[in-house]
Amino acid sequence: MKNINGVLCAAPSIYWLGSNDRETDKFEGLWDLPMGVAYNSYLIDGEKTILIDTVKSAYTDDGFCRLAELLGGRPLDYIVVNHMEPDHSGALPTLRTLYPGVKYILNAKTAEMMKNFYGIDGPFEIVKDGDTLDISGRRLVFAFTPMVHWPESMVTYDATDKILFSNDIFGGFGALEGGIFDDEANLDRAIDEMMRYYVNIVGRFAAPAQKALAKVRTLDISLICPSHGPIWRTDPNRVISLYEKWSRQETESGVVVVYGSMYGNTKSASDAICRSLSLAGVKKVIVYDISRSNMSYVTTDIWRYSGLILSSCTYNMELYPPMAALLRLLENKNMKGRSIGLCGTYSWSSAALKEMREFVDKSKGGWTLVEPALEIKSRPTCDDMLLCAELGNNMARAVKS
Ligand code: FEO
Repeated sequence: MKNINGVLCAAPSIYWLGSNDRETDKFEGLWDLPMGVAYNSYLIDGEKTILIDTVKSAYTDDGFCRLAELLGGRPLDYIVVNHMEPDHSGALPTLRTLYPGVKYILNAKTAEMMKNFYGIDGPFEIVKDGDTLDISGRRLVFAFTPMVHWPESMVTYDATDKILFSNDIFGGFGALEGGIFDDEANLDRAIDEMMRYYVNIVGRFAAPAQKALAKVRTLDISLICPSHGPIWRTDPNRVISLYEKWSRQETESGVVVVYGSMYGNTKSASDAICRSLSLAGVKKVIVYDISRSNMSYVTTDIWRYSGLILSSCTYNMELYPPMAALLRLLENKNMKGRSIGLCGTYSWSSAALKEMREFVDKSKGGWTLVEPALEIKSRPTCDDMLLCAELGNNMARAVKS
């Protein structure tokens, strides 16, 4: 093993060259990163040198000073480009300058994007789905995984050492905290962050994810090297099963209560619903104030649990804007198979309940409405509170059944 800062993976001559980003506040400008995110790149170091994916442009120096050390003056022969989103491709222009003879292994869609993003038009080794390349005694297989996460996405399987370079698939938020392997990491935290990545980045594409997983299931895998989060070497099957569960939208029993309230009246109604859920024996009641919560956590819990209560005020004759943004996001994610309860409030122009009902109707049965759907004027009365309790009780029955 060479004495470098790169980390030798489980197989000889394969190095992790990732970088930890603890500076970016929001991934894709949208999703909170309180624990950062890692961009993983890998070097296969043999007679020919092959880099699998790169890092975000701002992390080029951090990620690739070790590459120069490892190469020790030799050229970089190939870069496999599994996915063009700039968190993985951002270093390509710099690498082209540093290693002008490098050849890119990619598919036709990626080649097109490469020109559009960076003006790089070759030299390309274009691969098709299922193609293999034998490079210095190592067999690489390329499997297309469209829409997980973009149309050009693919994974690379090293059939020699049974390693899957899975790019976004099996990736998660969270910078690496010393441990780069699953058995070295805080696994509960890593899996929570992996689910948050799945729901927010890949969640809309559940059907393509299932197709991609079916391909992955045909491979004999000893190591999964994703482009975010830890490397899975202890039990790769566990992480594949988790992904399958999430892509099937399997839920756990529990209720997420999301409210939007200007002066606390809608919040009071939500608290009454929460109390009745608890009295009815629901242990997992997760409450979010939509004005103060990052959507990525809200949507992840909504994905996780079988029940959802939306409780919102009306604002300027429309649904309260942060709640409207949430509904738009949920619609985009094609969530289905869950129960939903609604509570709308208004003072002088009813709109919240109507718009939330339209969201449920538009799902065409994706969401099952739990009655009663409530509408409260200005401030909940004692009778309104009794209806809140009824909604909570009915939701408790729905999620327990
Ligand atoms: Fe991690 Fe789709 O990029």
